[in-house]
Amino acid sequence: MSTETLLRGRRVERVLAGMPASDGAGVKLSRIIGRPGLEELDPFLLLDEFRSEDGADYIGGFPDHPHRGFETVTYMLAGRMRHGDNQGNVGLLRPGSVQWMTAGRGIVHSEMPEQEDGLLQGFQLWVNLPAKDKMTAPRYQDIDPELIPVVEAAGGVSVKVLAGLVGKVKGVVDTGVTDPTYLDIALPPGASFGQQLAEGHNAFVYVHDGAVVIGDRGLQQGEIGILSKGGRVDLAAASAPARALLIAGKPLGEPIVRHGPFVMNTPAEIRQAVEDFTAGRF
Ligand code: CO
Repeated sequence: MSTETLLRGRRVERVLAGMPASDGAGVKLSRIIGRPGLEELDPFLLLDEFRSEDGADYIGGFPDHPHRGFETVTYMLAGRMRHGDNQGNVGLLRPGSVQWMTAGRGIVHSEMPEQEDGLLQGFQLWVNLPAKDKMTAPRYQDIDPELIPVVEAAGGVSVKVLAGLVGKVKGVVDTGVTDPTYLDIALPPGASFGQQLAEGHNAFVYVHDGAVVIGDRGLQQGEIGILSKGGRVDLAAASAPARALLIAGKPLGEPIVRHGPFVMNTPAEIRQAVEDFTAGRF
């Protein structure tokens, strides 16, 4: 690798706004990845932001549904969701907590709001699994807010390290082959923050509060900026406080065949997933 490559900073290659969508039992959300124009960003299959103060937008929740072949990552910012699955696992997702669920060969679960009104805000990210891990045993990492490392950087910048490495601080989640970075970065007005990412990883920034600038491109609240390949990325807040997710991961480069909540490598594996689910084998 040349020195030039090592020093190459990442730029914003594309900017897209989230797309209004509805999922579960009528939960209104913004679909950022996993929609026309951005079907996936290998290894990421989906990113949703749910954010509403109106109970009517989320009260239906996400009743029982299956997953196979990937991981779902739920990161709550406000409000509470009750999680339960067909293997007797239950948990409460509260503000600041993260649930990293490796669905593997399959679970059936529900994610239901535990409130009828008031702000409910958070994200769900789907991270693909490599072919060799798609049928692994299901696994949960339910992480309380207090356990997420926070790096305080120059200029009053505060970074929650869900996954990945910031300086010497390692994220709280034990991750697999895709080696994801998942940071929630809070920037005071005018502050900036730089993060080194692995050269070959796909990466994006999603602004959930205020606006950030990367190089000569601005990103507004609700926009995703897909980054060029490279090493370091530098984000700066404009004249107001800003908050953004910085997410990166190693692309798998494998065929993706998706059918709703099943994401496998071949159509035959999808048929098998539907058959197994229908026969109650999850
Ligand atoms: Co789910």
